[in-house]
Amino acid sequence: MTRRVAAAAAALVSTGVLALSGCGVLDGTETIGVAMPTESSERWITDGETLADGLEGAGYEVDLRYAGDDIAQYRQADQVQEMIDDGVELLIVAAVDGAGLVDQLAAAEAAGIPVIAYDRLLLDSEHVDHYVTFDNYGVGVAQAQALLRGLGVVDADGAPTGDGGPYNIELFAGSLDDNNALIFWEGAMDTLRPYLDDGTLRVPSGQTEVAFAETYRWSEDTARDRMGSLLSQYYDDGTELHGVLSPYDGISRGVIAALGLWGIGPTLGEGLPVVTGQDAEAGSVQLMRQDMQHSTIFKDTRVLADRAVDAALAYLEGGEPEVTDTTTYDNRVKVVPTYTLDIETVYRRDIEEVLVASGYLTEEEISAG
Ligand code: BGC
Repeated sequence: MTRRVAAAAAALVSTGVLALSGCGVLDGTETIGVAMPTESSERWITDGETLADGLEGAGYEVDLRYAGDDIAQYRQADQVQEMIDDGVELLIVAAVDGAGLVDQLAAAEAAGIPVIAYDRLLLDSEHVDHYVTFDNYGVGVAQAQALLRGLGVVDADGAPTGDGGPYNIELFAGSLDDNNALIFWEGAMDTLRPYLDDGTLRVPSGQTEVAFAETYRWSEDTARDRMGSLLSQYYDDGTELHGVLSPYDGISRGVIAALGLWGIGPTLGEGLPVVTGQDAEAGSVQLMRQDMQHSTIFKDTRVLADRAVDAALAYLEGGEPEVTDTTTYDNRVKVVPTYTLDIETVYRRDIEEVLVASGYLTEEEISAG
């Protein structure tokens, strides 16, 4: 069964048309379970497809599921449990809630199923064999540097220009049930702190704690609403906003929408604040082309997926995957052996060379947003 059949079967199950267990659709003995968090963000669709292509190319069947960010009918814990019950050979999991799969990971261990954490660390469990991800702290640093550069506080090499501002910024974090969100925040705040401390940067809302900055489940709508309320509470007196730290393109689009509604812009050239991002999603790359979003962070998810496939094949063939980091990723029970990939900041002028020439996005995808 191909992943498309598996996905179709899963859709029928979710609508109650077909009961998956017992109907034999997943009886293949060589199936890999791939659990992705959501289809609401392009990057996870690319991740899922590349993983499935790679595993199918190596002769395995793939049960690829998306958890819809854990809405009731697509609970990731249930999806993973079903995969275990169906007897998958191995699991690759990008968790919605990093600490939400502890029971399933124990069940996987009991069934002898290796588990690879994909981009997001699986927390609070001993039963995580391997982790493939990007330099997450580096993402946060790069986002903060892009913000500082957009404000004119540092130059292209990251060296201070001597511009002391003061610049008004607001801070957004990702979903705190995703370990990455905290690491992005740490990298960004470590980089911004000296400029906050010396008064070059100010946060008029005072919301400099991650708990205030959180955007639960990385939701664009939540980000738009929070930006809207920050503007009406702290900027109604004419205070100018110069920059927004955003950890993910969906959040950036929500922030930019709120700024537009507030009547700022519509372009950076016309006073829109500098807004950062992550994932090089087509919708945000289009906004960059339109001089509305300042930057994004490109993480080549094709390479990450290939890396995860290599790790999976290593386990399936009785070996061990390659590891580059044995110290950073402590999941609160153990340090998970990790393979880490590099990231790249993308500004408007880099779109063609970094994103289009590499085949990550086509011009058509960018124009379609
Ligand atoms: C990923 C980011 C992504 C975010 C929201 C994080 O775990 O590392 O690339 O922007 O989730 O989907």
